[in-house]
Amino acid sequence: MSTQLPDLYESATTASPAPADVAPRISVRNLCKTYNTRRGPVAALRNVSMDVAPGEVMVLLGPSGCGKTTLLRCVAGLEYPDSGEITVQGKTVFSSSRNIVVAPENRNLSMVFQSYALWPHMTVFANVAFPLTTAKVKKADVRERVHAVLQMVGLDHLARSHPGQLSGGQQQRVSLARALVADPGVILFDEPLSNLDAKVRERLRDQLLSLQDSIGFTALYVTHDQTEATGLGDSIAVMEVGSVAQLGTPTDIYYRPSSRYVADFVGSANELKGTVVGFAGEYARVDTPIGSLLGSAGSERVVQGQSVSMMFRPEHCHITDGGAGRENHIQCVVDRSMFLGSHVEYVVDAGGQRLALKTMEGELRKAGATITVRLDPTMVRVFPAE
Ligand SMILES: Nc1ncnc2c1ncn2[C@@H]1O[C@H](COP(=O)(O)OP(=O)(O)OP(=O)(O)O)[C@@H](O)[C@H]1O
Ligand SMILES: [Mg+2]
Repeated sequence: MSTQLPDLYESATTASPAPADVAPRISVRNLCKTYNTRRGPVAALRNVSMDVAPGEVMVLLGPSGCGKTTLLRCVAGLEYPDSGEITVQGKTVFSSSRNIVVAPENRNLSMVFQSYALWPHMTVFANVAFPLTTAKVKKADVRERVHAVLQMVGLDHLARSHPGQLSGGQQQRVSLARALVADPGVILFDEPLSNLDAKVRERLRDQLLSLQDSIGFTALYVTHDQTEATGLGDSIAVMEVGSVAQLGTPTDIYYRPSSRYVADFVGSANELKGTVVGFAGEYARVDTPIGSLLGSAGSERVVQGQSVSMMFRPEHCHITDGGAGRENHIQCVVDRSMFLGSHVEYVVDAGGQRLALKTMEGELRKAGATITVRLDPTMVRVFPAE
């Protein structure tokens, strides 16, 4: 059986964390925040801790309501946490035990919102200049810095326009320029691209990446779009109802999800339920409705007799000719095939279980064709059943 793995998987297994002697730019410790609502208390953050290294873009990824914005607003100082500690660029800006609360404007960071949050009555120039004029920077310096930063985002020619005269993508670039103008070192982004159409979103994502490369700011970046998360993040914190479910590099999160929740939320996954019946080396053997399969239990410990979920991604299924009856080979019948140019997507029936496959290999198989799917046990994750 082939155990060849994609290069990215290899790099995921060798990726090293940021050196411990580099002080983090943002540090969050045991942060808790509960909102009192008419429905009762809502625990939006439950003991969240994380460190963002200098120059790192950490993405907060998770479904609606999991606490992403609340965490960002706590770091920004727009929300008052119940307990915990927050440090920004070496300065404690919030500590419940030491009674420290620093005002948002003194936290040495800036924020980019989903809704742009520009002043409609002010020109692009005046909007971008705002953080400098409130900080009483000299007029000549303001002019120079605003034009420099507008050039960076490609908008210097629109300096005299008003936000209402700009497209959504241009308005978001203005708000990015405003975030960069005071050179804060730390920028918080709350879904900055989600109001834009797909093409503009992609362009702006590229531009953000190259700006981050050249300026090297540290960022906490909220999104629920996983392509954005894996594309932009040096690290990703996957959040689940107020907690961090997994924190790791994008390849870690993708190839080695630590729970069923993360595997299900990031990328798409096939799922087979079953029972552990034994172990073969580093793999667990699981009895499933479509036969016995091997998979990796990763950091989760599973024991004989335990009910588990086997999860594997459509793109990790290989179609082979023959091989039926061999270890981790599944006989299937094609229900549907969709040729999408870069790859083919299949929905297949494996003894009554529907599986999704995504492949660039081999010829197009039509509905009704019998195929054999080979699963690399390294790419099949075994999680305790929920
Ligand atoms: N001002 C508030 N008052 C009461 N409850 C709130 C308030 N803000 C947020 N919540 C609740 O706290 C939880 C976390 O909300 P939050 O806005 O942080 O989620 P989110 O992950 O940013 O979601 P989305 O992806 O929809 O923006 C939710 O249950 C939400 O209803
Ligand atoms: Mg939000």
